Amino acid sequence: MERKLINSPSFFIGKGEGDNLISFGSGQPDLPPPDEVFDITKNYRSFKYGLIQGQPHLREALSRFYEDSNPDDFVITNGASEAIDLSLRAVHALTGGSKVLLFRPYYYSYPHNVRFADMEAKYSDLKEGKIDIEDFKKQIEGCKAVIINSPANPTGSVQDKETLLEIDKVCREKGIYILSDNVYKDLVYDDEAFYLEGEHVITIDSFSKSYSMCGIRVGYLYTPNKDFVDKVIEMKTHTSMNTGLMAQEMAFAATNVPESFLLETLETWRKRRDLFYRGMLDLGLDVIKPEGAFYLFPKIKNPDKAINDLYYDHNLIAYSGSWFGDDERMRFSYALDVEKIEIGLERLGKYLEG
Ligand SMILES: Cc1ncc(COP(=O)(O)O)c(C=O)c1O
Repeated sequence: MERKLINSPSFFIGKGEGDNLISFGSGQPDLPPPDEVFDITKNYRSFKYGLIQGQPHLREALSRFYEDSNPDDFVITNGASEAIDLSLRAVHALTGGSKVLLFRPYYYSYPHNVRFADMEAKYSDLKEGKIDIEDFKKQIEGCKAVIINSPANPTGSVQDKETLLEIDKVCREKGIYILSDNVYKDLVYDDEAFYLEGEHVITIDSFSKSYSMCGIRVGYLYTPNKDFVDKVIEMKTHTSMNTGLMAQEMAFAATNVPESFLLETLETWRKRRDLFYRGMLDLGLDVIKPEGAFYLFPKIKNPDKAINDLYYDHNLIAYSGSWFGDDERMRFSYALDVEKIEIGLERLGKYLEG
């Protein structure tokens, strides 16, 4: 195989697994979506433009998940990705601000999204996956927004309630927006996760991870802040317009699925997490035990080179930590079944033996 240098996740995203390739790369569940989602496809007939804000019945269904919310507080987007993009641009448009705080390591799109919104990212380094509140207080100075992602990609860490409440207090006092990216909220293994709410909080979520519907591209943002919602709608009118209507219908079907669907899938993830975490420890790797999401983020030397060698010499896909702001680690997604995880661990072991 020609060794084209791999230096971006775009090389791997959407790549089929192919012969003998084990992919710990892309963060997309391999599990099937709920059956109910397929039922709408055969009789679907609506091909006109839809409301920019999103279909009223989907927003109505979502508002049932958030106490005191109403359907007008939601905008349905093309995945959480569009919600993050539009939210950051709305922060800039509404405040004229130029800085956004990110916790590092971060989800790899955040710095790009901040830049596309004409702002600059500042960073606060996580300690073993957890927010260092004193550092947060220093770094937040001059910022107009902070992004919180708990459970997090790539560490799998969940932030505790006390820390989040302290962040909330600072942000309320200083008029700073909190973008709470909750795409892994249904993938929490141990204690419950806590989520902030309020006029200054923009909740971002998606059907991608919870319901294994990544490619359908439905997400949303929720905030009781009417000016914020209006600004987002105004921008979406001139960018993607409405989110795909058939996809919204599928998402609506998912909102009616019994909770047991989410609980069963969580058990599958938990088994994989335990197996993969144990396997990494057995390989002698320094790795944080994930409390949520479906990633492991072990220390591995020279990750930019390692991802190339693993792919070309060992048929194994993993992502470089440098894409997430940590060039001493690699990200492994365990969105694949246990036999494949075991084969992948063997290959990783061979690579590490050199
Ligand atoms: C933390 C985080 N936010 C947002 C996204 C994007 O999700 P979506 O598919 O809903 O656009 C991802 C996808 O991996 C993610 O990990």
